[in-house]
Amino acid sequence: MNFERYQIKSYSEYLSKYKKSINTPDVFWEAVAEHFLWHKKWDSVCLGDFKNLDIRWFEGGQLNITENCLDRLIPTHKNKVALYFEPNNVETPTRQYTYQELLDEVCLFAHVLKNNGVKKGDRVCIYMSMIPEGIIAMLACARIGAIHTVVFAGFSAQSIATRIEDCGVSFVIVNNAGIRGEKKLYLKSIVDTALNLVSDKQLVRKVLVVKHTEDAVDMVSERDIWLHEEIAKVKDMGLSFFPAVVMEAEDMLFIMYTSGSTAKPKGVVHTVAGYMIYANYTFVNIYQIKEGHVHFCSADIGWITGHTYLVYAPLSAGVQSVLYEGTPTYPSPSRLWQIVEKYKVKSLILAPTTIRMLMTYGTKPIEQYDLSSLKVINSIGEPLNESAWDWVHNHIGNKHAAIVDSWWQTETGGIMISSFAGITPSQKSYSTLPFFGIVPILLNDFGAKIRESNVKGHLCIKQSWPAIVRTNYSDHDRFKETYFSKFPNYYYAGDVAMKDKKGFYRILGRADEVLNVSGHRIGSAELENTIASCEAVIETAVVSFHEDIKGEGIYAFVVLKPNYKDYLEIRNQIIDKVAQVIGSFAKPDKIQFVVGLPKTRSGKIMRRILKKIANNDIENIGETSTIIDASVIDDIIRNKQS
Ligand code: WT7
Repeated sequence: MNFERYQIKSYSEYLSKYKKSINTPDVFWEAVAEHFLWHKKWDSVCLGDFKNLDIRWFEGGQLNITENCLDRLIPTHKNKVALYFEPNNVETPTRQYTYQELLDEVCLFAHVLKNNGVKKGDRVCIYMSMIPEGIIAMLACARIGAIHTVVFAGFSAQSIATRIEDCGVSFVIVNNAGIRGEKKLYLKSIVDTALNLVSDKQLVRKVLVVKHTEDAVDMVSERDIWLHEEIAKVKDMGLSFFPAVVMEAEDMLFIMYTSGSTAKPKGVVHTVAGYMIYANYTFVNIYQIKEGHVHFCSADIGWITGHTYLVYAPLSAGVQSVLYEGTPTYPSPSRLWQIVEKYKVKSLILAPTTIRMLMTYGTKPIEQYDLSSLKVINSIGEPLNESAWDWVHNHIGNKHAAIVDSWWQTETGGIMISSFAGITPSQKSYSTLPFFGIVPILLNDFGAKIRESNVKGHLCIKQSWPAIVRTNYSDHDRFKETYFSKFPNYYYAGDVAMKDKKGFYRILGRADEVLNVSGHRIGSAELENTIASCEAVIETAVVSFHEDIKGEGIYAFVVLKPNYKDYLEIRNQIIDKVAQVIGSFAKPDKIQFVVGLPKTRSGKIMRRILKKIANNDIENIGETSTIIDASVIDDIIRNKQS
């Protein structure tokens, strides 16, 4: 790959190129798009704006993303490694795939999909742990033009069922079981439960099962098929290469469900061309990719970070990616460092929560490993607090690796505000500067632009960029309402941020009722609905509180029906319910049974007050005169969970 022509090399180049990118975005992005493989070039670069919300990029263009991630690389990267697989257990042999081998596997898998009736436009749900077949499944869908919706393997059967119904999934791919640390995840049996919950029994026609462990599973006849048997059939038929289905630039590539301020998760839709170009260009520039680069993204394929910076961007840039199956502390808290040393990893993506958790083990687990290959440490998903920044800088990056704090979202497709490793300045606690084409703006509550530095405001984006969410699946009104109604003509991110004198952005946290627990985005309404569905519960309010490792913990205030007094039992019921409906990662850390919730005269729960109480900030509770029954507050404070 010719990165020379494609990458910025200095801060001054960033500044001049940034100006061009926002003043003449069409010229800018067209030049980037020229580097890819197209069946037909685009007729226009960017159509649609934040007024009409019919956003289209590279319309008229035709391509397939897998040809850009695989076929395009074959002449130069045929025998170079695309993927290293590091299994959970140290004793299990590692696996690796060259670009040619990965292409071959994707082609076989695509034949399997086709033989089983999957067509362009069909929705395919992938519920898999971190194994190569998960990535191959995603790419096989993209090759055939099917729309994948990957559901993180920590979600419950109920969550899978909701997603399957929302976007009309007809085909599911799952591994029999997964392994993470000491734990086994019986994924196939969770899918079985999920499919029993889907009301239309005709909806999902087939379940393709990847045999990853020796664990036995029940196979439903006519519906369930084994991948290895289907591949054997493909080979018997003499099939190997699978010509990529030609896609329109704006055809859907995938749907990723994410939490918002309402109870129902929304299907964020990304389309082929704009997403691919933005993913690749952010990756190559921010991580300063060079020939032979080894990249290790520790995020799960079930989240947007996995989609963009573990699958599509690294492959499209021809790097060697490490896929790790297990947890950072298995079999010891040295595991990540051992992987970095083993593969000579140059760029590493870590969530702040993982950093804080590893910090609790001190520096001993790091000392015996050579981490000198590391050039870029990228923190994603939550604010990276100062002590975590210092720890990474001193002990992981050995003061020479660039610490890159990148802000973005499921909806933005790729990184939006970030330093460029070693090129633009980096500053503790700041995500710093916008990427090319991104125009952030801070607005006050009334929608006026904040001009002063160091004043908090709502982070919004002023103009379209190639990887912006196009719609919410089958609910364009909700898309308009969520992102473009609070401040008309701006994309509303839901985060609060400020800007310093140099113009560097600092992200402070969510402004809406979305919690960020260990980097997992959880809607408080989603949790409240779930808790309120317990027999004993009348109503509930969920807020976050500061928690040292997870960043935010979940605090639930719960009002019980009269005569329900078995608190311990009810507590367990609530926790089980959340695990069952959403997933174990969303379990409340603290549950307090209260006599009532503070409400305004119009009946709105005053979460602001509950949040202060949960954070022990009782002196600063503020105005309470609008509450109907202020005595509930005294009760809540008196019985607060420590
Ligand atoms: C929310 C998006 C970034 C992709 C993975 C999460 C928070 C993200 C940062 C950062 C502070 C951050 C925001 C954002 N967030 N990156 N560098 N500093 N906060 O994607 O699940 O869609 O969550 O994560 O609150 O809105 P997501």
